[in-house]
Amino acid sequence: MEISGKTAIVTGAASGIGLGIATALAEAGANVVMADIEKDTVEQAAHLLSGTNKQVLPVRIDVTQEQSVIAALAEAERRFGKLHIACNNAGVPMHGTRLVDVPVADWAFVIGVNVWGVIHGIRHFVPAILKHGEAGHVVNTASVAATQNRRGTDQGPYSMSKYAVLSLSEALEHELEGTNVGVTALCPGPIATNLAQGARHRPDHLGGPQLQPTAEAVMAERLARTGIDPRLVGERVIDAIRNKTFYAFVSAVPADVIRARHRRIEAELETRWTTTY
Ligand SMILES: NC(=O)c1ccc[n+]([C@@H]2O[C@H](COP(=O)([O-])OP(=O)(O)OC[C@H]3O[C@@H](n4cnc5c(N)ncnc54)[C@H](O)[C@@H]3O)[C@@H](O)[C@H]2O)c1
Repeated sequence: MEISGKTAIVTGAASGIGLGIATALAEAGANVVMADIEKDTVEQAAHLLSGTNKQVLPVRIDVTQEQSVIAALAEAERRFGKLHIACNNAGVPMHGTRLVDVPVADWAFVIGVNVWGVIHGIRHFVPAILKHGEAGHVVNTASVAATQNRRGTDQGPYSMSKYAVLSLSEALEHELEGTNVGVTALCPGPIATNLAQGARHRPDHLGGPQLQPTAEAVMAERLARTGIDPRLVGERVIDAIRNKTFYAFVSAVPADVIRARHRRIEAELETRWTTTY
């Protein structure tokens, strides 16, 4: 679809990948609603972008809260009219603790932002895109962690949340067949962002801000060392929207691990225990 002149909302747009996507969309001529839980930071980011003659609107959103998503959408439609592109991108990490030791509040946090955030986006942004009949696109930020569980990282809760994002995206693609609204599951490898400090603005109803200096430092170092510039992810998203790419990988991917997982599943598809349908 043509991006210029269309309106997009990007959640988690104050930092990292969301900021990269918002920048690329604005550069491609879209009106961009930059939505983030960090009000001051997203306002500063929008100020920098709009200074280059871009049409951007910063709004505060907490994607874990349905009413907040509804309010952000209303603000977007008041300012720009129709919504065409929704990037459900806000997300938080959950690494470094084995499954049996992850506290219930941490499960609620990672599922609240990474899964419910996308569900709320689907429930409210998608009908807003469909109601005017013009072309549109939904981008859900999953991860390479949506396609395999990486040994040694103790990132089971994060990976689980991203498998859920991938599954939601696949189901959404099926449901939108026959419409002019495309779907992309964005699957980045390491990107140099602030993800390691993801618990910095943990909502109070999900346990409040919590710092885990050791786990954060390990992850921050890995992302800084191996991660690519989030602006490249923005370019990847523009390409995926224009070419209707569903699985949009970008940066380093553990291709052998993904293939081995698929081969293992395939090997079990035709045993004496199964039939086909
Ligand atoms: N950085 C990576 O290597 C990487 C790789 C694959 C996928 N991802 C995914 O990319 C997405 C963006 O992460 P990032 O790496 O840019 O991290 P980041 O921390 O730099 O940016 C995340 C943004 O989301 C916002 N946010 C957090 N909770 C929110 C909430 N409840 N409501 C609204 N906004 C909220 C934060 O304030 C922040 O601005 C996440 O879904 C993450 O899981 C990141």
